[in-house]
Amino acid sequence: MADWIEIGRIEDIPRQGARTVRTGEGDIAVFRTAQDKIHALKDECPHKGGPLSQGIVHGDRVTCPMHDWQIQLATGEAVAPDEGCARVYRVRVKEGRIFLMV
Ligand code: FES
Repeated sequence: MADWIEIGRIEDIPRQGARTVRTGEGDIAVFRTAQDKIHALKDECPHKGGPLSQGIVHGDRVTCPMHDWQIQLATGEAVAPDEGCARVYRVRVKEGRIFLMV
């Protein structure tokens, strides 16, 4: 059954960076934007499975390191150059602590 798990503090993730959380369903990439928004996506690009956690975060998107697809962090949707969708995980921040629904 899905549940909230605490994965660390917001400052554990560099701004415009990510860290991965290993789960029974595979790795989840947890991103922090320049505005300190936190998003979580399956660490698998909808194109060919590239590690989104190693991509470049810019604005509210991440660019996959493999072939430069741009993925919306909030929805997991690929916005360029083609269509696809990465799985989104629910995430919330409470008093600087990050919780992930897995
Ligand atoms: S695997 Fe991500 S752009 Fe190709």
